[in-house]
Amino acid sequence: MAEVNVRVQVEGPFATVMVDRPKSLNALDSRTLQELEKAAAGLAGREDLRGVIVTGAGEKAFVAGADIAEMMEMDADRARHFGALGQRVMDVIAALPVPVVAAVNGFALGGGCELALACDFIYASENARFGLPEVSLGVVPGFGGTQRLTRLVGRARAKELIFTGDVIDAAKAKEIGLVLEVVPLPQLLGQARSALERIGKKGPLAIRRAKEAIDRGADLELADGLTIERKVFADLFDSADRREGMKAFLEKRPPVFTGR
Ligand code: HXC
Repeated sequence: MAEVNVRVQVEGPFATVMVDRPKSLNALDSRTLQELEKAAAGLAGREDLRGVIVTGAGEKAFVAGADIAEMMEMDADRARHFGALGQRVMDVIAALPVPVVAAVNGFALGGGCELALACDFIYASENARFGLPEVSLGVVPGFGGTQRLTRLVGRARAKELIFTGDVIDAAKAKEIGLVLEVVPLPQLLGQARSALERIGKKGPLAIRRAKEAIDRGADLELADGLTIERKVFADLFDSADRREGMKAFLEKRPPVFTGR
């Protein structure tokens, strides 16, 4: 399969995954979803990786949704497979062991909003627009939106957005906690890179385990989440990074982490 709709660029310890299908505003058809899955699976195995940015090509769209022309012809059985493929792609991205930042550079609608929601957090450009407009098409979000949006912004906000299909601007998305920061478009990738660079100076094992503790614990009872935290905290004491981090502090010098 020639890969044309998803581009992966690795620069040092950071990767950028870009959906690049301009004729359809980067909409996700089956082929693009498969390319995304392959890209994410390839990154999952890279021990040297410290962070990933997910973005869209061009200045208009992050991803304008699942491909409506492809969905038009689907019966329920094909739709089940398509939904399962999309959910699997979002799960593979969400499960990447390193921080994943969505840099939303325009429309993030339907499956595009769901792609951003699969990332650890979202930065947006001023021209970004968010929405889950599936009910306008007679369907519901199918790539995780009913679940991940609800967990992020709460039931009432998620219901308002999903029931109305409203498209909101970046400022409103920030106000409801969907987006963390809004910057002018030319600064968007720099904003995401700067966060990853700050993260990249910290203990890599600690970052991976913090992500694991947050993600595994978030949907559990507090006591069960705290059990995960205790284990992760104690495990890290056997790492070279933990010894180096504390030693460097006591010796008043910057740490040199090795990820072990
Ligand atoms: C297929 C799409 C598309 C999409 C845009 N295009 N979005 N093609 N699927 N999701 C195509 C248009 O058909 C058009 O093709 C070209 O991209 C440019 O789009 P325009 O509509 O001409 O641009 P504009 O008028 O500026 O409007 C931009 C827009 C609008 C507001 C983003 O395109 C739009 O509403 N798109 C659909 C958004 C949406 O409903 N997304 C949710 C999909 S459902 P031509 O050939 O005419 O140039 C979904 C479900 C996920 O995501 C779960 C599934 C299981």
